[in-house]
Amino acid sequence: MLRRLNPLDNLLAEAGHTLKTLFTKKPSPLTEFEHQHEKTDAASLSEHECKHSAGLMRVNHTGEICAQALYRGQAFFARNADIKSHLLKAADEEVAHLNWCQNRLYQLDSHSSYLNVFWYSASFGIGMLAGCVGDAWSLGFVAETEKQVSAHLQDHLERLPELDYSSRNIVSKMLKDEARHAEQALAQGGRELPKPVKMLMRFQSKVMTSTAYFF
Ligand SMILES: [Fe+2]
Ligand SMILES: [Fe+2]
Repeated sequence: MLRRLNPLDNLLAEAGHTLKTLFTKKPSPLTEFEHQHEKTDAASLSEHECKHSAGLMRVNHTGEICAQALYRGQAFFARNADIKSHLLKAADEEVAHLNWCQNRLYQLDSHSSYLNVFWYSASFGIGMLAGCVGDAWSLGFVAETEKQVSAHLQDHLERLPELDYSSRNIVSKMLKDEARHAEQALAQGGRELPKPVKMLMRFQSKVMTSTAYFF
């Protein structure tokens, strides 16, 4: 018979997930999606292009670390069981994005951001706060996050080196997925967030993207 999880079980499970998200450094086996597309050998890019691609993919990787933390923080306090499972399922889907970015950083002979522990903690806290204020606001927060992420992925598509097909394919696929996540959150009853909250989110994202590019 399955045992009901108590709060301590939940906390331990969450701690395990956090450690796995932050400290799995080995590249994961390439998925069918990564195999399907034309690969760019890092050697076919100039040193400058390689560094630039790595900077942008590091930003995207940190964005996915934040997505894990936000979704899971929100799920932790979700009131409705359906919303909670929707948020956890969404976090699972984002794991693929995280792995693609991690693999690409590895192929570009680069590293993930040194500040990921900080970004994970901050995002988990923000996610918990969003989860506490109620499910409709929480889903509105997901929709706004995904919209802002889509905007910066679009910007990355314009800034990635033309010949870096691998990174471009990953970013294009993520862009499609994030736009779908935003639509799903709104369809589930997400509320439009007040302007000051959106501006605060943009500011936080600006700080994250401009630091993760370098370290
Ligand atoms: Fe994502
Ligand atoms: Fe997403």
